Amino acid sequence: MINGELQLARPLRWGMVGGGRTGQVGYKHRTGALRDGTYHLVCGAFDVDAARGRDFGMRVGVAEERCYDSYQALIAAETARADGVEVVSVATPNFTHYEITKALLSAGIHVICEKPLFFSVAECDEIAALAREKGLIVGVTYGYTGHPMVAQMAAMVAKGMLGEIRIVDMQYTHGFNAGDDTGASEAQQWRVDPARSGGTFVLGDIGTHLQYLSEIVLPHLKIEKLLCDRTAFIPSRAPLEDHATVLMHYDNGARARLWVSSVDAGQMDAQRYRFVGAKASVEWHAARPDELLYEVQGEPSRILHHGMPYLEEEGHEYDRMGALHTEGLGDSWANIYLWIAQAIAGNPPARYPDMAAGTSGVRWLENCIRSAEAGGAWVDYA
Ligand code: NAI
Repeated sequence: MINGELQLARPLRWGMVGGGRTGQVGYKHRTGALRDGTYHLVCGAFDVDAARGRDFGMRVGVAEERCYDSYQALIAAETARADGVEVVSVATPNFTHYEITKALLSAGIHVICEKPLFFSVAECDEIAALAREKGLIVGVTYGYTGHPMVAQMAAMVAKGMLGEIRIVDMQYTHGFNAGDDTGASEAQQWRVDPARSGGTFVLGDIGTHLQYLSEIVLPHLKIEKLLCDRTAFIPSRAPLEDHATVLMHYDNGARARLWVSSVDAGQMDAQRYRFVGAKASVEWHAARPDELLYEVQGEPSRILHHGMPYLEEEGHEYDRMGALHTEGLGDSWANIYLWIAQAIAGNPPARYPDMAAGTSGVRWLENCIRSAEAGGAWVDYA
């Protein structure tokens, strides 16, 4: 159980690129990083609008002279300081991730980057080599995967409590883009522009969360084949998709079905996972994160609750709130940030969302695009 005691010798000097006043995801980063005093926010280039970014930075406690006009200015000034920033989070639109990450690593600064990490596996391989050469960490904020019930599911699968895995059923859908993009926010505009979003819209935006979480629960399974059928119900979004179905075959013969959509009209937030084995199943909904449905064939269904003694040891290790109180998304982000800090300090946990995890997401997207462009054909996973 985590109680906020500092787990590092000292806090890391942390900065942000993006994630400013108008950014959707910025506060989640601060929620995660600042929770246990593991990171100290010392600088930022928080906004593409420099003046707004400076004003914002000062209002979240950063000294005016360390609120920079651009990430390039941040790197130049911070690397010249004896107490310069050690790790920077990149919470900007997708098309900027690669260039900003590359510049930060080249300057000797660890990076925590948003997903989808980059546009291609080739870019990922280049950045992985650079990080290796520099001895630096790249973490990726798959923010849901720090929840203790995810660790509980992984432990149950690893211990054979479900039996051999046969079926994986995943969904991440909402209806917030059921209408067209007239007057859409800046955050939506770049998401439907291939030059700024990359080769996908919802597959990268929300599907990569499903892909990485399933990888944590099923680390022993490899995808062998994949079929992706995608479409844009709002035509202006083509060639990107606002809806997709992905079927997958794993190397043990298991089958997966995955549905992502932002045109699931009326749906507020459906993110759910069901892992079915030969003798039992587990099911987790991100909107009810405290609960895990555990169903053993022939027995009454059970709802396991976070923080309870009957959970596996792995399901307790990163619990923060205790059973009486809701354990939510902010707690999950705090664990992700803690794990990345431990990796930076040279003491990485057995698993955390690292460069390989980010690359795996980009690889999955490349395979989805290849299948979709072949008319929704089965493709061998490459
Ligand atoms: P957004 O459009 O709401 O915010 C982007 C922010 O970046 C804004 O503050 C903007 O001013 C700033 N910005 C843009 N270019 C910049 C530059 N060159 N230098 C400094 N600041 C710059 O986008 P949103 O929704 O926050 O998404 C950002 C990233 O986070 C995306 O990659 C997205 O996929 C990811 N994301 C991840 C989530 C998660 O759960 N891990 C949730 C939401 C978004």
